[in-house]
Order: sequence, then structure tokens, then C-alpha cells
Amino acid sequence: MKNFKIFAGTASQDLAKKVAKILGISLGKREVVRFADGECRVRIEEDVSEINTWVIQSLCPPVDENLLELCLLGDTLRRNGAAKIFVAIPYLGYVRQDKVHRKGECLSAQVVAKILEEVGFEKMVTVDVHSQNVLNFYKIPAISVSATPAFASKAKGDKNFMVMAPDEGAIKRARELAKLVGAEVGHLEKDRDLITGKIKVKKIYGNVARKTVVIVDDMISTGGTLVLAAEVLKKVGASKIIVCATHPLLVKEAVGILKKSPLEKIIVTDTIPVPKEKQFKKLEIVSVAPILAKVLQEQS
Ligand code: R5P
Repeated sequence: MKNFKIFAGTASQDLAKKVAKILGISLGKREVVRFADGECRVRIEEDVSEINTWVIQSLCPPVDENLLELCLLGDTLRRNGAAKIFVAIPYLGYVRQDKVHRKGECLSAQVVAKILEEVGFEKMVTVDVHSQNVLNFYKIPAISVSATPAFASKAKGDKNFMVMAPDEGAIKRARELAKLVGAEVGHLEKDRDLITGKIKVKKIYGNVARKTVVIVDDMISTGGTLVLAAEVLKKVGASKIIVCATHPLLVKEAVGILKKSPLEKIIVTDTIPVPKEKQFKKLEIVSVAPILAKVLQEQS
């Protein structure tokens, strides 16, 4: 018997089940109900008094609903006498709003940190946070674990390959994978218009000609960054392009444009559930459950 219990939010039920299975425990029983007007009500259905508890919930779409549900779960655990309440957020939302990009904007990543702390969570664990800067907003211990080991075996096996960061923000992550599989690293210089969202590749660092290129990124949202990167890399002679991206948000037309793109394979993780209708042949899902199980065990 572990000395903690795990409760799953609705966005992370499958992943939480896998984590619990690895740890040899069952998920904590809870009820999550939505009223006709959209309001959420949660209830813990087992004794948690004097027990450390984890809530696992990704902040993927519907982001705000998932965030509030997470807060309600935390609150009810605290009210029911849990010794400590911790939170594991496999995909932490609002992370791209980690600075004031334009005058007058909200610092949303910090607001999320404040909300979670106010609920009473005493520790936050996430996977491949968009930028380390986000963790600095937390006064409680905030840890981001890397999903790279989940990708490593998939990115190996081809001698003539290199790892590519699609923008400067992804270089650290690309270096980590490159080190693990013994490949060289390149990166693209990308520019995004903050109002239209339009992306431009300004420069390519690294020689990709006749190589298998593994693009590493933290998330696929609209898919625009990856499709553009793939097109640019193909033009300069990359022979095969594979993607390792942690968080499959896959919003808007992402699935359609990724299917049509020159990308041969797109490997993502299960930090965000991908419904059947969004799954396609080129998409492969690897699990971060072993990584999360290990960190929950260590941090409990
Ligand atoms: C950007 O800074 C991120 O790391 C991702 O590259 C980006 O958010 C992906 O968004 P999209 O799929 O919409 O291009």
C-alpha cells in the first residue's frame, strides 16, 4: 500500500489510471457532476483524512473548466482532512502567457500559480513545461519532469539523422534528446505575429541535407509551427522528417494540415488525451505514465 492516494480529474482519467496501475494502487473514488448551466460539483467518495493526496488533471481544452474542476477537487480533499494535497498537471495550460508580450496584457501563467496555491496545493508537478520561467511564479515547490526518455527509443535507429528545434525556445529540449540518442542539433529562427498568429522561418541553423530530421517541440497546438518547419526543411533537402512533441493539443485544423504535411511520423505523449476521431495513421502516442509514477512516488 502506498502512503498516498491519487484522484483523477476528467481530463486525465486514462493517464491517472495508468499511473495508479504502475504504482499498484487504485484511483481514489470521486464524483464529478456538471449541472445544466455548466457549473461543476465534485465530491470525494472515500476517506482521505491524514493521507497525502495527488490530483492529476491536465489543463487542456476546455482549459478553464478543467482548471476550475481541479481547484474544486483540491478544495474538497483539503476540507475532508487530507494531510497534504499535491497536484500533477501533465499539461500545464496558460504557459505561453508567461510574460507580458504586449503592454496591457495579463500575466496569466502567474495567475494560475496563485489560484493553485490559494486552493492549498503544496506541490505542483508538470511535464515539459513550456518555459522554466513559469515555474518561478510558484511559491510552492514546482517541478517539471522531462518526457524525453519516452521519445528516446523512437528517435533512435537511423544513423544519418539530426535533432531540430523549431524555435529558440525548444533548443534545450532538442539538446536533451540529441544527447540521449547521440545526434547533432540544429534550430530554426521563427517569428510569430502576436496578433495574427502567422509564423515565418527566418533562418536555419544546421545542415539538414539528406538527413532524417527529428523536430522536437513541447506542444502541437494548431500544427502551424511544425508544418511550416517541415516544409522549410524539405526545401533545403531533409530526406525524412519526424516529430517528437509532448503535448498534443491538436486544435482547429491541426489534424488536417498534419496529415497533408511532409511529416512522416508524429510522436506525441498522453499528457493530453487524443480522442479517436483525432487519431490518424502518422500519429503515434507514447505514455508518460512511468515518468509520472516515478516522480509522484519520489515527491510524496
Ligand atoms: C511555441 O513557442 C511553442 O513551443 C510551440 O511551438 C507552439 O505553441 C506550437 O503552436 P502551433 O502548433 O499553433 O504552431
